[in-house]
Amino acid sequence: MILVTGGAGFIGSNFVLDWLAHSDEPVVNLDALTYAGNRRNLASLNGDARHIFVRGDIGDRALIDRLLAEYRPRALVHFAAESHVDRSIHGPGAFIKTNVEGTYTLLEAARAHWSTLGEADKAAFRFHHVSTDEVYGSLAPGAPAFTEDHVYEPNSPYSASKAASDHLVRAWHNTYGLPVVTTNCSNNYGPFHFPEKLIPLMIVNALAGKPLPVYGDGQQIRDWLYVTDHCSAIRAVLAKGRLGETYNIGGWNEKPNIEIVQTICALLDELRPAAEGSYTRFITYVKDRPGHDRRYAIDARKIERELGWRPAETFETGIRKTVQWYLEHADWVAEVQSGSYRDWVDANYAKR
Ligand code: NAD
Ligand code: TYD
Repeated sequence: MILVTGGAGFIGSNFVLDWLAHSDEPVVNLDALTYAGNRRNLASLNGDARHIFVRGDIGDRALIDRLLAEYRPRALVHFAAESHVDRSIHGPGAFIKTNVEGTYTLLEAARAHWSTLGEADKAAFRFHHVSTDEVYGSLAPGAPAFTEDHVYEPNSPYSASKAASDHLVRAWHNTYGLPVVTTNCSNNYGPFHFPEKLIPLMIVNALAGKPLPVYGDGQQIRDWLYVTDHCSAIRAVLAKGRLGETYNIGGWNEKPNIEIVQTICALLDELRPAAEGSYTRFITYVKDRPGHDRRYAIDARKIERELGWRPAETFETGIRKTVQWYLEHADWVAEVQSGSYRDWVDANYAKR
């Protein structure tokens, strides 16, 4: 079996569902259920013996030791993190605790477990660290996309904490021989995306007739990847990736934020037309994010060349599926927009 951390979050829950759709290999899913974790994402697995959910913190060494001893997973796929740049600006401490110290605890527990394995199991074991393109910093317009050799220049507390965790993972491989692989992926979107991030926020705000807050001039560029493409890339790297290597994962979809927002409005105009006119009337430019990275772009040729992976979705097919999913899951949206979500919206947008 495999042990997944953060498997009740956006990408982690998509990964668990995708994994069990492709294989019968069981998953132990360790998640602290912070504001970003939601067991409802995994409701379709209720009663499925292949999925074992454990609520707990990756910083709890005794718990990790117990899970590794009890389930003896052949791989650990590490998604758990504090993941929102804006939250990291308001409160960086949780990012250091989970992303840096939590990853350190997992690495140490994995190393202790791995060192007790026989030679064949030792060679087969994998620690797969899921990371982000944001560790590379911001690209100038026209500069070549990030390759795996790009210098690390993180600019937000979030990306700095992820960069630190990448460095720890690298060091545990080079110093102790722990069999690690790291993937650095661009911005994901799709089902179960918490509506504090750009794409789901714009969909749910438009449907609620609320402002669509575009930071600064809206010309910041991100490279967007449909979440199930990220899941298939992780499966490929886990199966065939070379030890100690990093693989960049991206969708070849560089788009300025304002274009994303306009595309969402156009899809909603088509799928849920409003009598009052286009949803674009809600677009509102607001104060920029401090330290806002101008552009990310991923060069995903290494994973294609070595592992034959390419994204299956284009941005057009993926964003249409995503908007449709949110239209069909109003109950999920209502549930995640609880009291603490409203507190966050006040903290981030009231003074913009
Ligand atoms: P998310 O915030 O939606 O989910 C994170 C999950 O981790 C939640 O279920 C949360 O409960 C859990 N968690 C948080 N702290 C924990 C702790 N201390 N112990 C155990 N569980 C804890 O994040 P996501 O968007 O699904 O991102 C998953 C991973 O992918 C992260 O490592 C992130 O850095 C990386 N990543 C995200 C993107 C993206 O676009 N969202 C892109 C590239 C990489
Ligand atoms: P986000 O989804 O937070 O991802 P990241 O910061 O990790 O790339 O934001 C994506 C882009 O959208 C980023 O350039 C910031 C911008 N953005 C807005 O313009 N308005 C918003 O309300 C949010 C949440 C993000």
